[in-house]
Amino acid sequence: MKTDRLIVDNNVNSEKIYAQAVDFLNASQVVAFPTETVYGLGAIATDEVAVKRIFEAKGRPSDNPLIVHIGTTEEVTAYIEDIPLVAKQCMEAFWPGPLTIVMKAKPGILAPSVTAGLSTVGLRMPAHPVALALLRLLKKPLAAPSANRSGKPSPTKAEHVAEDLNGIIPCIVDGGVTGIGIESTVLDVTLDPPVILRPGGVTKDMLEAVIGSVLEPTYVEQKQESTPKAPGMKYTHYAPEAPVYLIEETADIATAVATLQQQGHQVALLAPTTYAHIAADYFFTFGDEHNQQQMGANLYDVLRRCDKTDATIILATATTKTGVGSAIMNRLEKAAGDKWYKKQD
Ligand code: TXA
Ligand code: MG
Repeated sequence: MKTDRLIVDNNVNSEKIYAQAVDFLNASQVVAFPTETVYGLGAIATDEVAVKRIFEAKGRPSDNPLIVHIGTTEEVTAYIEDIPLVAKQCMEAFWPGPLTIVMKAKPGILAPSVTAGLSTVGLRMPAHPVALALLRLLKKPLAAPSANRSGKPSPTKAEHVAEDLNGIIPCIVDGGVTGIGIESTVLDVTLDPPVILRPGGVTKDMLEAVIGSVLEPTYVEQKQESTPKAPGMKYTHYAPEAPVYLIEETADIATAVATLQQQGHQVALLAPTTYAHIAADYFFTFGDEHNQQQMGANLYDVLRRCDKTDATIILATATTKTGVGSAIMNRLEKAAGDKWYKKQD
């Protein structure tokens, strides 16, 4: 299959491009498009043939439900049985934006594969102008997971989508680099208090300021049977080819790199720019030190860059879990399988 790359960055001829993307979607095809978090792989959420193509293209397990993207808040009533007050407050405060709200779905409306057999569905109104323009022209909901092959880091550039899905999907709408770089917060409001199933750009503090108490299970708690979780969180995620080890910023990183090299490793170091002087075989920067926004925006790109090297081990500096750091560390812990570099005595 030939993959068309349709660039909407400069807004030249963009009407024509959106119309082309809409034609693909109405023909039950999948289309990759940018959101403010990561690129999504969209299909019309009421079209089972189209939605199945998402799972095929990604190699995604069929028990992992998809987020449904909408262009206006009015559409929520079409898919949701009863909209809880906390959900309304969240929509008011955070939409359009990086918050997915899991609610009880009206039966029989969405394509069955979207919800993967669950009685709930996650809805989100994205804040990216390209995503909104596409949704508003289409006038239908788009089921869209991140536009990567299952298990790989999510795409924050059209090039990332092409790396994974060229020749497999018919169309990528290229709107340049996404802003936040980390997927949306997934909040389950069917539970009381509501539970963050996946941390993201809308943090626990931001949510609690609007709706009161919210639970955010830690990485360890998420592994426990009794903790509510997103079906997708049990799968390997965000993983480059070489093993990733986390390292505290306070550790002696230069010695850690040298020790691994003496053991015969090619070391890729992922760290803030201030560590660029360390003699790793490859250095990829998260950006300025203590700038978690930059770290979030660069995270998946630097993880993907490691795959273009012959590094045999990846060392990534950890950050604090405050604010958006919680989402960053959630992704890094998953990429690393929670492995930490230990000093050898
Ligand atoms: O920022 C984002 O959320 C991006 C962009 C494209 O919107 N999308 C995204 O989708 O990250 P995906 O499919 O890669 O991740 C969705 C996560 C999965 O872990 C899935 O299991 C969970 O949300 N999820 C979806 N529907 C759910 C539901 N009804 N109940 C619990 N978890 C759900
Ligand atoms: Mg994903």
